[in-house]
Amino acid sequence: MPKLGVNIDHVATVRQARMTDEPDPVWAAALAELGGADCITVHLREDRRHILDRDVRLLKETVAVKLNLEMAASEDIIAIARELAPTQCTLVPEKRQELTTEGGLDVAGNLSRVREAVAALAEKGIIVSLFIDAEEDQIEASKEAAAHAVELHTGRYAEAAYQDAPSRLADLVRGSQAAAAAGLVVHAGHGLTYRNVRPVALISGFDEFNIGHSIVSRAVMVGMERAVREMKRLITVEPAGAEERSGDV
Ligand code: PXP
Repeated sequence: MPKLGVNIDHVATVRQARMTDEPDPVWAAALAELGGADCITVHLREDRRHILDRDVRLLKETVAVKLNLEMAASEDIIAIARELAPTQCTLVPEKRQELTTEGGLDVAGNLSRVREAVAALAEKGIIVSLFIDAEEDQIEASKEAAAHAVELHTGRYAEAAYQDAPSRLADLVRGSQAAAAAGLVVHAGHGLTYRNVRPVALISGFDEFNIGHSIVSRAVMVGMERAVREMKRLITVEPAGAEERSGDV
């Protein structure tokens, strides 16, 4: 059964819009857990535009499920991660001007740096996942970097025009199979919504989905627990007979 990682960054985005103390992502994490989240994900960005160090510290103390820290492979953030030791760290590329993470990490082009970062985190018992595009060279390099897992970037599928979505989905099927064959645990995330998640959820082999913007957006309307419960249902409920699993195609 795939796990649902709920990214609560945008709860902190609302708080930071007023630089005040509400809404509190720590409270949101507890409600997400009650709604069935298997994992709480936060991105401690170098510019601290939403999640703050205080949030990660408190989440480490309060989250009962898996805590996944998204982060750049920079020296100061690695030092914080090593000290706090969340369950898992997901290394992502980070640019100051971007609205959100734009592309996958270029592991193949930065192999020794990524390998060092993986080793520094793994030494503290942290599971390390690399956020990559579903490309063979990046999957191979992730294995060489000794990562435990890869998170395949679903953004190209999520943003594809209707007629292009099947081909982007096929990229994810191939990528998940190649990553599994390389002995990596396979996650997926970015741009997944209530309306586009189902075909990805039906690909066999994904162990975890990390979803943020869409869940927090829905939570504004219906509350966090219900928003999480609804997404969890979409990623875990088996197809009703006739619907084929995309991974079997
Ligand atoms: N996975 C990674 C690696 C991300 O950087 C993000 C965005 O922070 C997500 C998943 C969640 O993406 P979204 O907010 O579009 O669901």
